[in-house]
Amino acid sequence: MARLVVACAAAWAAAAWAASLSGQPTDAAGAAAADSGAAAQSFYASHFETTPTAAALSAMGRALFFDPSLSAAATRSCASCHDPRHAFGPADGAAVERGGIDGMQPGLRAVPSLEYLQNVPPFSEHFVDDEGDDSIDQGPAGGFNWDGRSASAHEQARIPLLSPFEMANASADAVVAKVAAGTHAAQFRETFGAHVFADAALAFKGVLLALETYQQEPTEFHPYTSKYDAWLRHQASLSAEERRGLDAFNDPARGNCARCHPSAMRQGALPQFTDFGYIALGVPRNAAIPANADPRYHDLGLCGPLRTDLTAHGEYCGMFRTPSLRNVAIRRVFFHNGVVHRLADAVRFYAERDMHPEKWYPRTSGVIRVFDDLPAEYHANVDRIAPFDRRPGDPPALSAADVAAIVDFLKTLTDGYVVGWKNQAQAVQSSELKARP
Ligand code: HEC
Ligand code: HEC
Repeated sequence: MARLVVACAAAWAAAAWAASLSGQPTDAAGAAAADSGAAAQSFYASHFETTPTAAALSAMGRALFFDPSLSAAATRSCASCHDPRHAFGPADGAAVERGGIDGMQPGLRAVPSLEYLQNVPPFSEHFVDDEGDDSIDQGPAGGFNWDGRSASAHEQARIPLLSPFEMANASADAVVAKVAAGTHAAQFRETFGAHVFADAALAFKGVLLALETYQQEPTEFHPYTSKYDAWLRHQASLSAEERRGLDAFNDPARGNCARCHPSAMRQGALPQFTDFGYIALGVPRNAAIPANADPRYHDLGLCGPLRTDLTAHGEYCGMFRTPSLRNVAIRRVFFHNGVVHRLADAVRFYAERDMHPEKWYPRTSGVIRVFDDLPAEYHANVDRIAPFDRRPGDPPALSAADVAAIVDFLKTLTDGYVVGWKNQAQAVQSSELKARP
């Protein structure tokens, strides 16, 4: 339990640090002030010769994020896998990206978006929603990565820099040596002080802090400029088809998508389209992931093998963190194993998984092997609540028209929508900007 508290403090402090730098007070800032754990202190209490401003840190982080010389092969930057034109997801349609010492080692999971991660709560096995009914234990939620194994964005950044599948540096010192010899060395000294490279451990913290601060930059990572946000602010209208999609998305008897991907404003806050919870959807195995050539290999998410602290929890096997659906229409791969490449197919999976399993799973000797990416003993973990409460022959939860309309609705979640001058004028006139429910 003590360990969990420390991890929480670290993650809250991450938000608090960024908030204090950007001058935007958040609840997290208060929480961190009230409860600053040892882990948080050791990271954030680092003293650099120069105290960087938020803007300097963010600019430093952006430079490092796009710098391929930071990888062992000098070919992969963070942006090679997390492309800003695709919601910081992969630019190509490959299920997993390549990295590593030669830049050719295949990864194990689809590259997630890096947008709208600013509110990811610290990982907890017993998440209690403080805005809803606080007596309900909603089970595991939060943390970074598909399995929540990183407590904060700076802890997370360590992984790709040192992972043999990603940037494959041998050590933190090796990363610092590259920065010191690279094109951003002068900027790094300006940011953290002239002698920063003399202490490699401190300089590595600087790298992580800069990357973390950049990834909290609102205009790039959480701008809330989608058409749907404009609609929620009464600055745009949805088409009939988009409205129809939103209705099917929210309707508990049809998509029931908002059960895990909440779409409504809450206490004045725009929706995140994720509750950060862990669910086993039973998506099909992806033969395009080289590790899957071994039939004994299973990516079980929360219970391992990448995450190692919950392997004894069979009840968590197959569970992955619910992703936000913001900007999902500009992503090229879907689900944790990238088995789906078209948004319409991802939505169709929800409509067909139980009604038409033959369209999704392989057949062996005439028998359809449902949930073929999960050993049989974990099939009971797979979600069975609407839209997953049907059997072959039942009326479908979602019609083909519903699926098409939901896709149209999901496209309204893409940032960069330009609000027309007429709508803006109207919005300003209606002095009381009452948010839609
Ligand atoms: C070779 C491809 C690759 C490179 C390079 C890479 N990443 Fe990632 N990134 C991934 C994959 C794959 C995951 C998901 C890993 C998992 O769930 O186990 C991920 C996950 C993340 C996450 C967690 C997202 C979430 O939803 O919780 C963050 C943050 C992140 N990466 C930041 C970075 C940063 C910063 C860099 C550069 C220092 C970087 N990545 C470099 C492939 C890459
Ligand atoms: C029971 C919770 C739950 C419900 C209900 C649900 N989702 Fe999901 N959704 C998830 C989880 C968990 C994942 C990731 C699963 C994985 O990768 O194994 C996901 C992934 C997705 C993805 C892929 C996103 C990406 O970036 O990879 C899309 C698209 C999606 N959901 C749309 C929908 C739609 C549309 C509905 C309603 C028809 C819906 N979801 C209902 C939990 C849910």
